[in-house]
Amino acid sequence: MNQDEKKATVAAAALDYIENGQIIGIGSGTTVHALINQLSRVKNKIEAVVSSSELTTKMIQEKDIRVIDLKESGPLPLYIDGADESTSKKQLVKGGGGALTREKIIANASKSFVCMIDDSKLVKVLGKFPLPIEVIGMAQSVVALELIKIGGRPVYRDGFKTDNGNIILDVYNLEISQPIALEEKINNIPGVVTNGLFALRPADHLLVSNGNNIELF
Ligand code: 5RP
Repeated sequence: MNQDEKKATVAAAALDYIENGQIIGIGSGTTVHALINQLSRVKNKIEAVVSSSELTTKMIQEKDIRVIDLKESGPLPLYIDGADESTSKKQLVKGGGGALTREKIIANASKSFVCMIDDSKLVKVLGKFPLPIEVIGMAQSVVALELIKIGGRPVYRDGFKTDNGNIILDVYNLEISQPIALEEKINNIPGVVTNGLFALRPADHLLVSNGNNIELF
């Protein structure tokens, strides 16, 4: 099974978590695209979707499913999204697609967070994937200096602006043995909007496609 097939398989498994009449949150990225491609199968169960990115919004609307704002929906029963890395404790690195801030807001507002990955993303220690950080543009160099002080190598994501109009620094060389402490530390740097660690609010259900079946954590 190739990676696209693994994404389709894990996305199909995530559909089972959707219950009748729900307003659900949906994340961003190619695994989410695989989910959206299959969403018609459960369309009658979904009252509306709260979306984490402009692209997800467009794709959901193309399926004739209503997209509403989080301020209209309030807290959600369910959020489904992918990740760039996860541990078996369901602590994640996200933001490869740059939608981390809205993703974190919706995940935090949801009772249950279902995360879909393939087995290449299941790691013992987070940090091999560079940690994305959304930063206010004027703070780029000062935030970068702070990230160097904690042992990282920040790289400006060239030519990219988030849906919120900010920049992304991708931080290499971090071996993240204390994800909650690091998430809090980076959040406290003035100029940082969000970092891609989802450890304070990890996933509740991790679905891992290994090519043969779906492992549940
Ligand atoms: C976007 C994300 C994605 O969930 C993450 O990058 C995984 O993407 P993909 O499913 O394309 O591998 O956090 O901000």
